[in-house]
Amino acid sequence: MQSNEIRSRFLKFFENRGHKIIPSASLVPHNDPSALFNTAGMQPLVPYLMGQKHPTGKRIADVQKCVRTGDLDDIGDNRHLSFFEMMGNWSLGDYFKEDAIKWSYEFLTSKKEGLGLDPNRLYFTVFEGNENAPYDEESKKIWMNLGIPEHRIYALPADDNWWSPGDNGPSGPCSEMFYDMVGDVGDINHKEFLLAIKEEHVVEIWNDVFMEYEKKNGKVVGKLKQKNVDTGAGLERITAVMQGKKTAYDTDLFKPVMEIIKAKSKNYNAKSARIIADHLRASIFIISEGVLPSNNGREYILRRLLRRAVRHADNIGFPENKLALSLAVIFIKQYAEIYPELKEKKDLITGQILKEENRFRETLSKGLKEFGKGTDPFILFTTYGFPIELTLELAKEKGVKINIEDFNRKMIEHQKLSQTASAGMFKGGLANHNEKTIKLHTAHHLLLAGLQSVVDKNVKQRGSNITEERLRIDFTCDHKLTEEEKKKVEDWVNDKIKRGLNVVRKEMPLKDAEKIGAEMEFGAKYTDIVSVYFIEDKAGNIVSKEFCGGPHVKNTTELYSSLREKSGDNSPFKIQKEEAVAQGIRRIKAVLL
Ligand code: ALA
Repeated sequence: MQSNEIRSRFLKFFENRGHKIIPSASLVPHNDPSALFNTAGMQPLVPYLMGQKHPTGKRIADVQKCVRTGDLDDIGDNRHLSFFEMMGNWSLGDYFKEDAIKWSYEFLTSKKEGLGLDPNRLYFTVFEGNENAPYDEESKKIWMNLGIPEHRIYALPADDNWWSPGDNGPSGPCSEMFYDMVGDVGDINHKEFLLAIKEEHVVEIWNDVFMEYEKKNGKVVGKLKQKNVDTGAGLERITAVMQGKKTAYDTDLFKPVMEIIKAKSKNYNAKSARIIADHLRASIFIISEGVLPSNNGREYILRRLLRRAVRHADNIGFPENKLALSLAVIFIKQYAEIYPELKEKKDLITGQILKEENRFRETLSKGLKEFGKGTDPFILFTTYGFPIELTLELAKEKGVKINIEDFNRKMIEHQKLSQTASAGMFKGGLANHNEKTIKLHTAHHLLLAGLQSVVDKNVKQRGSNITEERLRIDFTCDHKLTEEEKKKVEDWVNDKIKRGLNVVRKEMPLKDAEKIGAEMEFGAKYTDIVSVYFIEDKAGNIVSKEFCGGPHVKNTTELYSSLREKSGDNSPFKIQKEEAVAQGIRRIKAVLL
């Protein structure tokens, strides 16, 4: 089934059940100045989920353009896309769990009106309950009344089955459907189900959110005036399922472009090709909304997407200045029926892509000249936009030595300044932010201590970044970690989690903190009185001490999720990736399962 058919079947199905079809809202949110782009179908509908009357009625369906650019590093894998279309149907204080669940199942499985998926390849989850809301037995019963066997319905904690668009606004428990991508996963227990998700043998394809609660400042404060339903189903992922592919890049949505990239590249590799296709597609939609590449906010995101596409095009030997006219035009044509704004803005879109590619190339050639004069890599980067990876590559070719420590120190200072300037902009993004990132933050401290204990006591942190999904640490180390080292570090961290260590914040004079050797951020400047986080056992033995503003969990056992305990596996900390980022600097991405 082609993607166009999936889109229209979805809308028709819900139209036949009393829903009014509305067009996708603009990618740039108009009711929320704090968000850069719409990241979910429900975002433009927040006022109506909160109780305002929607002009078209209480039942609505649409296919919404969304952009999520939380971590561009993830683009190119099987699941993450920076632009995607989300199919959604809404009840604004009208029907609730019963109809929402029944229809979502019917749409996925009905051959006549829906997608005709095999029910034996579906798995179901419900919210397991916490202090905010009880175990969602009601949804479980509704699934069972539809004939779903009980053992195919898994109860999961808030991390997985509570949805909200941010710290404020409508939120609630959700119930999701997963699809067996392999074909013979069959009946699996709770633990096997979690593993199957991790290995992408089953993937989430549908989310029914029962929005009856309100969040304020990250806390659930009570019930909303009305009970709502918010559903989300990613078109790209469902298309992959319908076409028997692992990723959207192999479906009709991407294939025409992917084939041209392959045909025209001298050193083709799939990952670079995916990144080019993903970033270009997102850029086209962003430019069609009148956003043009520049140095701030959403304009800067667009610039980064385009420049990354150019870099990867160069990587694989795709011809220069051809992104616009040999690739972008294909996407524009492909989507023209559904999103006429692309056709209307075709010249603007292709013109801007070409211009940005040229500007970037100028930047590169100016940077090359400056490099030849021996200009400082930090100035090359900030003034000439010349990427540090290029500086390092060139330096290697020419046998020049680069002081990467100095560069990193200047970058950290620089980033601190620019982060405070734009931090406010990202708050409205998508988040179950608090709980997950706080846990990862504590895991981050443990990991640094673990690296020092297992790999080398001189390991220093050189950078860090935490999203809801994972933590990332850059650290000094002169070699690639061996499998054995990685395993030992994991075990070390998991052992500390298991032992239930206290995490304690103390304020102390900077001098004292330095004296006890608390980990400092490289190049950072501190005030006279500083905040230091200690992780220590009951006897007061210190495992980790870091200059840090927090927040953190109170005890390391909080790093378990209830999900993990249930599955009988008590080692939540896992290293996902270890790689080089610069000379003498390694990067680890790790998760809490
Ligand atoms: N708003 C829900 C999601 O994005 C449906 O998953």
